[in-house]
Amino acid sequence: MRYPPARKSIPLSLLFISATIFLALYTGAVRYESPPRVVEVGNYTIALPAPNLSGEMSVEEAIFRRRSIRSYLREPLTLKEIGQLLWAAQGVTFTQRGFRAAPSAGATYPMVIYLSIRGEGVEGLPPGIYRYEPSGHLLYLLRSGDFSVELARAALDQRWVKEAPVCIVIAANFERTMSVYGERGARYVYMEAGHIGQNIYLQATALRLGTVAVGAFHDDEVRRVVGCPEDPLYLFPIGRKA
Ligand SMILES: Cc1cc2nc3c(=O)[nH]c(=O)nc-3n(C[C@H](O)[C@H](O)[C@H](O)COP(=O)(O)O)c2cc1C
Repeated sequence: MRYPPARKSIPLSLLFISATIFLALYTGAVRYESPPRVVEVGNYTIALPAPNLSGEMSVEEAIFRRRSIRSYLREPLTLKEIGQLLWAAQGVTFTQRGFRAAPSAGATYPMVIYLSIRGEGVEGLPPGIYRYEPSGHLLYLLRSGDFSVELARAALDQRWVKEAPVCIVIAANFERTMSVYGERGARYVYMEAGHIGQNIYLQATALRLGTVAVGAFHDDEVRRVVGCPEDPLYLFPIGRKA
């Protein structure tokens, strides 16, 4: 999807402000997730550990240390670590309103976060494709099996996608934001993916894990592997730094 051309700023800002106020005041701006579409397996739900709100690394140090890391040890991550990463991506940080860790235009929250776990990628979890449910801080198993090779193939055979114990997939439902902001909403969705991606980078750095933003992939193939109806925007393979 191409960015729409920029238009006059005053009507746009008025539109944004009024839509935001409307959403915040009159709708509560809370969009709890609808139940996920179960593709191949039954309703297997994992409650993630509560996130840590006082890590060992300052945000300044995380910004300084953040690098794209593409080589990982063959060691599983823990449930606590993936819970922390998913919380940083899209966790609910203001429960009264359902507001999340990353900002969202008009609190429309168009993003859905999926997790591909390879064989022995996370301690105690079977390999598969999972969907993160922010309001309950839960994971739903959607597809059982190790899809790391297929996902890497969809991402132009990037080795780090195949070798990482887990890979976060950020996918967007553009309609959620474009139904409020029209064509300009598409721009907001891409911006939001960037916010979420940076949260993942900084949280991974603070946990001494390695990750890299991957934008080079075939959309349709990633959509098929993940089994998601949304448009995939970003992959984040994550593992312990080699
Ligand atoms: C939008 C975007 C797409 C990217 N796509 C890929 C990718 O497909 N594969 C990859 O290995 N790195 C990808 N990167 C990571 C960049 O190569 C990396 O950020 C850059 O080399 C600077 O290194 P640093 O992140 O360590 O500062 C992407 C980064 C961004 C922001």
